[in-house]
Amino acid sequence: MKLKAENISMEYKDGEKTKKIIDGVDLCFEKNGINVLVGPSGSGKSTLLYMLAALRRPTGGKLVFNGKNIENDRLAERTRAEDFGFIFQRHFLIPYLTVMENVRLGSEDKADDKEIMSLLERLSIADLANKKPYQMSGGQCQRAAIARALIKKPEVIFADEPTAALDHENAENIYSLLRECSEESIVIIATHDTSLLSGDENIYRIVDRKVVREA
Ligand SMILES: Nc1ncnc2c1ncn2[C@@H]1O[C@H](COP(=O)(O)OP(=O)(O)O)[C@@H](O)[C@H]1O
Ligand SMILES: [Mg+2]
Repeated sequence: MKLKAENISMEYKDGEKTKKIIDGVDLCFEKNGINVLVGPSGSGKSTLLYMLAALRRPTGGKLVFNGKNIENDRLAERTRAEDFGFIFQRHFLIPYLTVMENVRLGSEDKADDKEIMSLLERLSIADLANKKPYQMSGGQCQRAAIARALIKKPEVIFADEPTAALDHENAENIYSLLRECSEESIVIIATHDTSLLSGDENIYRIVDRKVVREA
């Protein structure tokens, strides 16, 4: 299993000018574990994460997943659907569906109730299976969103500021869940908040449009 970015760049059009946000970055993720993209707000963490997640096509360079160059939208879409899981700052659960139904949808209707329940148990939200998002706290919703991402056993999990909307205790819980996930998947998190890191993550800092790997 391998996710590789070769010389990827992102430029945005800003009126007449183009603004380069990420400039020729090489990255390679091969082993399960937690990888964190850090840097101040506006440094390009989300941009880089979205390129790695095949959500945004780089304006230069390429993304290679398990030997395949993700060179068109169809391949990007298939890779995202089959191999990638996503957790965002907001949970984006479907409001009129229960947790169970939201997670089932995340599996594209492939997971059965028993499988979903055992995952919910692992995330300590089994008692919320029949609740809808408006009946739950922010932390509980974020757990449900993690369940939805995990149900298809993704090879890579991408998380963009997954704890930004949570209080410290819930944020810590989400981090420990992500740490657990990292035993079976490559986890890549973009965050400006390094206070929750435990020290055994791989840290990639965005500095002047480039990425610096911290030991
Ligand atoms: N779709 C876009 N069009 C133009 N500029 C963008 C777009 N997305 C992000 N940017 C700019 O790119 C820079 C990096 O943004 P972003 O990747 O969101 O940073 P971060 O996640 O580190 O806060 C910012 O200056 C932002 O304004
Ligand atoms: Mg961001």
